This record gives sequence, structure tokens and C-alpha cells, in this order.
Amino acid sequence: MGYKKNSYCSQGIRRGSAVLLFSLILSYFLTDVQSCAQVKLCDPNYTTDGEYWLYPAIYNYRPVKIYCKGMNTPTPSEYLTLFETNLFMYQNNRYTDGTSCSMETYEHENSGRTLYNKIGVDIRTMTIIETDSNFTTQIQGKVVRYGWVQSCSGYTSSCDYKGVAGMSVADTGLIFSGMNEWIKFGTDGEFSTVLRNDHTIALKGDGACGGGKPKYPIKLETDPSFSKLCTVV
Ligand SMILES: *[C@@H]1O[C@H](CO)[C@@H](O)[C@H](O)[C@H]1NC(C)=O
Ligand SMILES: *[C@@H]1O[C@H](CO)[C@@H](O)[C@H](O)[C@H]1NC(C)=O
Repeated sequence: MGYKKNSYCSQGIRRGSAVLLFSLILSYFLTDVQSCAQVKLCDPNYTTDGEYWLYPAIYNYRPVKIYCKGMNTPTPSEYLTLFETNLFMYQNNRYTDGTSCSMETYEHENSGRTLYNKIGVDIRTMTIIETDSNFTTQIQGKVVRYGWVQSCSGYTSSCDYKGVAGMSVADTGLIFSGMNEWIKFGTDGEFSTVLRNDHTIALKGDGACGGGKPKYPIKLETDPSFSKLCTVV
């Protein structure tokens, strides 16, 4: 068996089935396994959806744990499994009038509450595909896009924004890039940052209807402080 094939295939290993240190060393030599499709090319026996180590070029081929969906199809796709709550709420209520903060039910056609359990990622750019809802839990109403913070409560300046976006990539081995930016959208769209650090971004926003949305696709970077990699074998 040739050296290339041997090393190439050693990288398409499933989590828990191989020694990571070995694949880390190999990744310095051969770096072909950048996508779920390439895992399949390496070994057609990998037909099960699950977590795989991929080596995205944009990370200089450092390993990232990615969930591969559709491994029994010719076009599998990549997801990041989330460990903390990632919740988006476009509320189904609004302020009753412009003078108080009392609220009434308002079933806006876009209102909804969505929990993301995994997020779709573009493996070439390591950005989040905000419209992919394959791994979500719908609590109410319509799917709310990942990263968007919005509502339609016609808030007044003395009342709170009602839309909520809670994002966390804690324990994934990745962080949110500091370059990510949000912009206002919609009618009277406004938003504010409740919390922001490498792993967590919490926003609230509102409008009539409007709020805040990512200016560009949300970018993920490798987490320099991530130590779990060293203990997973
Ligand atoms: C796939 O699995 C079969 C049966 O277990 C094995 O004989 C074959 O070598 C495997 N293919 C590769 C590329 O590892
Ligand atoms: C699910 O993922 C596929 C790609 O694998 C995509 O084409 C489809 O739009 C996604 N569906 C939803 C509901 O996001």
C-alpha cells in the first residue's frame, strides 16, 4: 500500500476510533481530507452520519470535529455540533401602545422560536450557513434564521427589545471571529449586544418589523484555548 493512500485515509477517521496525535502528525504531511465528501473518497466504507475529523485548508489544515450528514449519498454536508443552547426568538407579541410597555399577542407571520442543535458550515470559508435548519428544534411558529435578532413589537425607546439571539460555540473547538459584525435591517430595526466573547454572543433587537442581522456570513475560527483535542482518542 502506498504511503499517500495510507496517510490520506488515516485522517478520515471517526472520533473515538483512532489516536488523534497520530492524525495530527499525519496532517503535516498530507492534508486532503477537507470535506465530508473527501472522507468518503478516502474510504467508501464511511457511510454513517456522525462526527469526523476534517482538516480545512482555511485553518492551515488543523483538525476540526465536524458532523457529516448524508454520508450514504454522493453529496454529504458539514455541520458543527453545538453543546450549549443556541436560541432565536422572534416574539409573537407586540407593545399595545406607544406610551407604556404593556404587551398584547401578535401572531406575526414570521414569528417563531428556534433552537439550533447543529449549524450548517461552509467548510471552505468556515462560515455559518444561516438558512440551514436541518438540526433544529422548533418551539413555536416559523424557523428563525441563525444569527438574526428580530421582532415586530413596535417598541418605544423606554421598552425593551423583544427579539432574542443567543449563540454559543462553547466546547466545539471553535470560536466566533472578532471580525463578525451585525447591522440593522427592516423598518426601525434596532439591536444591542447583551454579551459578547469568543464563545458566546447574545443580542436583543426589535423593530416594526426589523432588528439586526449578520453583515457577512458568521465566521468561525479555531479556539486557541481548546484542550479537549488532547484527551479525545
Ligand atoms: C471496506 O470494508 C471492507 C469489509 O470490511 C474491507 O475489506 C475493505 O478493505 C474496506 N475498504 C477500505 C478502503 O478500507
Ligand atoms: C438541509 O440540508 C440540505 C443540504 O444537505 C439543504 O439543501 C437543505 O436546504 C437543508 N434543509 C433545511 C430545511 O434547512
